[in-house]
Amino acid sequence: MSLGEGWQRTHTCGDLRSEHAGESVTLNGWVAARRDHGGIYFVDLRDRYGLTQVVLSEEVVGELKLAPEDVLCVRGEVRLREERNINPNRETGEVEVLATSVEVLSESKLPPFEIIDDLDTGVELRLKYRFLDLRRAPLQKNLIHRSRFINAMRRAFEAQDFAEVETPILTKATPEGARDYLVPSRVRPGEFYALPQSPQIFKQLLMVSGLDRYFQVARCFRDEDLRADRQPEFTQLDMEMSFVEEDDIFQVWEKVLVETFADAMDTEVKTPITRMRYSEAMERFGLDKPDLRFGMELVALDDWARACDFGVFSGAVEAGGRVMGITVEGGTSLSRKEITALEEVVKTYGAKGLAFWKPAADGGTGPLARFVGEEKAAGLMELMGAKEGDLCLFVADSRERVVQRSLGELRVHLGKALKLTDAAEFCFLWVTHFPLFDWDDEAGRWFSTHHPFTAPEDWDLGGGGFDLNDPKSPIGDQMSRSYDLVMNGWELGSGSIRIHRSDVQQRVFEVLGIGEEEQRQKFGFLIDALGYGAPPHGGFAVGLDRLVALTLGMDNIRDVIAFPKTASAADLMCDAPSTVEDYQLNDVHIALSPRAKAALDSSESDSEAKA
Ligand code: AMO
Ligand code: AMP
Repeated sequence: MSLGEGWQRTHTCGDLRSEHAGESVTLNGWVAARRDHGGIYFVDLRDRYGLTQVVLSEEVVGELKLAPEDVLCVRGEVRLREERNINPNRETGEVEVLATSVEVLSESKLPPFEIIDDLDTGVELRLKYRFLDLRRAPLQKNLIHRSRFINAMRRAFEAQDFAEVETPILTKATPEGARDYLVPSRVRPGEFYALPQSPQIFKQLLMVSGLDRYFQVARCFRDEDLRADRQPEFTQLDMEMSFVEEDDIFQVWEKVLVETFADAMDTEVKTPITRMRYSEAMERFGLDKPDLRFGMELVALDDWARACDFGVFSGAVEAGGRVMGITVEGGTSLSRKEITALEEVVKTYGAKGLAFWKPAADGGTGPLARFVGEEKAAGLMELMGAKEGDLCLFVADSRERVVQRSLGELRVHLGKALKLTDAAEFCFLWVTHFPLFDWDDEAGRWFSTHHPFTAPEDWDLGGGGFDLNDPKSPIGDQMSRSYDLVMNGWELGSGSIRIHRSDVQQRVFEVLGIGEEEQRQKFGFLIDALGYGAPPHGGFAVGLDRLVALTLGMDNIRDVIAFPKTASAADLMCDAPSTVEDYQLNDVHIALSPRAKAALDSSESDSEAKA
């Protein structure tokens, strides 16, 4: 079917204002709503730019149905609405188009859900019909905001002399702590590419090449457990620069953030951004990504606890552990039941209990009161920064991390529950000097806290000579030159100063249990490159999906991604992953295991049973 002459729009559905009154216009758009007023039809015509009310007489409509989501071409004249019909909530609300003709350019079947802003439909149906979900204004706004944001960032990096370089997608594994997505090779039977978990190694190689300042809007792939802030494929704003220290990287990023937020959102970012060592973040906030929008900091009570008569407290300190507390301002209003619910929060993070105290000069009340008494009350109140009417909460444990983490998570929980945070406030923080290695009990070995290319704070790694199979080995006290950018309690990005010496790189691989042969096989090209004049360098990558979601006040990254995946990494719309033909498997030299075949058979019989 050809559409005939003159069907194309003269204006969008968001353009028309009172000054257009009297003009002849042509609009193209979707039927968002249709009201029938006895012989007169009102149609709201929708496109990306807005909604315009069209008035159609019976003669103009004729036999046409004008069903929801039909695509129309409407010709007509703009006229002012009567005073009482003006819609102040709509930008085109002062006018309407009196149609002289209407054509259906494309018919729509009845959609599986209504295309409205505040849709209340299961997420699965929305994902299956994502192309219709994306027709809704809130999702379109998210994608447009994302586009503006990314482009503003690109401009900000280019202004500082960074060159955008694309790195391969079909490549070799880059260790970032997740599983790789593998792609079998057709021409080299039995061999596989890995999709990059990040461009990490390539960007370091670009520094060795002398590119000096690199950035990329980079797609990354990680086969890991998904959560609200994680997708199997996601986008980083990735960068790397040469001849730098931490400070240089922070300055570049602070400039980029200031410019991007001003440019894309008209929002001011205050710089310099606060910096805090990891150890301080853990001690004051219990987490490595503190939300600085409110106080309620952790208080160390080890000395107080050592001398008190509460065995749980003194025992924890004697066992080499910690006792810490937080003060909830005005918290005495919380009921016993509510406090019990808080105890459940800390228990999910491994704490054995949550002691509480309602402070008062006479010794206060609550389970801890009899160990405080009148003589110690004032001292504990001062330590805790507490006054009458507040509530003090305590965790004791022989494991420091459990004390910090459980109270840190409790603090975040209380911040939300007591509405101490403002979603419109952006509170950035650099957290620096994370431990270089973490011991993994299950695997019985050390892992890199960031990644294996991160420079140690002490380039000698403490001198060496320790037992790498010992979880208490001093290698665990080594700090790294890594840093995270945190905003409102979210990790937005990570980076580090890198190892630019092949001997140190090899030593780190050794600590990680990667022997010489494996080093050569997996990272030979990198070690090789570090031997040809690698400049001191460092870099950083921000998770763009997270940043964009947070700037929109959302806590799930799904709605800033056009075609996201479900929690089981499936694309419900195109039904991916899915089976392929036998000849395709043959081509890439893959045979399905009995387990895979059984799984396919059972899902086939499932769908047959459903049909
Ligand atoms: P890292 O692994 O910390 O560092 O990743 C950097 C940032 O990417 C985002 N991110 C994710 N976003 C959505 N879904 C995911 N599955 C996901 N995984 C990570 C986070 C995170 O902070 N190469 C290093 C960076 C460097 O050292 O320069 C890296 O990838 O916001
Ligand atoms: P119990 O001695 O088990 O009756 O506990 C007395 C109080 O101390 C209760 O409020 C418990 O929640 C609390 N409690 C028990 N273990 C701990 C712990 N490890 N840290 C903090 N409080 C605890």
